[in-house]
Amino acid sequence: MTKIAPSILSADFNRLGEQIAILEREGADYLHIDVMDGAFVPNISFGIPVVKSIRKNTKMFFDVHLMINEPVRYVRDFAEAGADLICVHYEACSNIIGTLEEIKSLGKKCGVAIKPGTPVEVLSPFITIPDLILVMSVEPGFGGQKLNKNVYERVKEVKEMLADANGTAEVEVDGGVTVDNIAGLAAAGVDVIVTGSAAFKDPIEESLKKLRNELK
Ligand code: DX5
Ligand code: ZN
Repeated sequence: MTKIAPSILSADFNRLGEQIAILEREGADYLHIDVMDGAFVPNISFGIPVVKSIRKNTKMFFDVHLMINEPVRYVRDFAEAGADLICVHYEACSNIIGTLEEIKSLGKKCGVAIKPGTPVEVLSPFITIPDLILVMSVEPGFGGQKLNKNVYERVKEVKEMLADANGTAEVEVDGGVTVDNIAGLAAAGVDVIVTGSAAFKDPIEESLKKLRNELK
């Protein structure tokens, strides 16, 4: 079954704990946590203290998406704060393999993300290492953007590369997902679908049900 990962970047931060509880009750599969440094992406979101704080009140799987430069510097902090999976950008790492190995050494699942303009071929040398491959369908930095249609072809290519290499990574798509395109993404073989603005449209319960119904 395709997993749904709501992104808290689109949450109401005055009601974050309450909204996470709703997501958990409604059966969202992963909680997608978008960390931005204002350097790798032209936006700043939140960081370690927020992860630590929300960890206390939910059992959800934390899918932490680090949109920060040289993330290896912070993977231990995010692991200790409660991340279950730490996803780093290929474009932000001077040593992607070392960074993925560091995350694994901390006992966490590791993911690698690529921006829409990064050729999927860059993944080949290390495609059997990550537990998750995030194929971005928007330029990272903001919620509420339009899905870049090249993601369908790119997902197909990554799935083929994984099959050829006997890789076991889940393929995740992130950015611009709505009730109108989520079924197509699932049909393309996406394992985990991130959705921010579409999931957090009030009432959240309804938004999640609508998205889940498209996957039936
Ligand atoms: C963008 C983030 C996405 C974003 C998704 O940089 O990585 O996770 O929050 O938001 P929507 O679903 O509104 O595009
Ligand atoms: Zn994200």
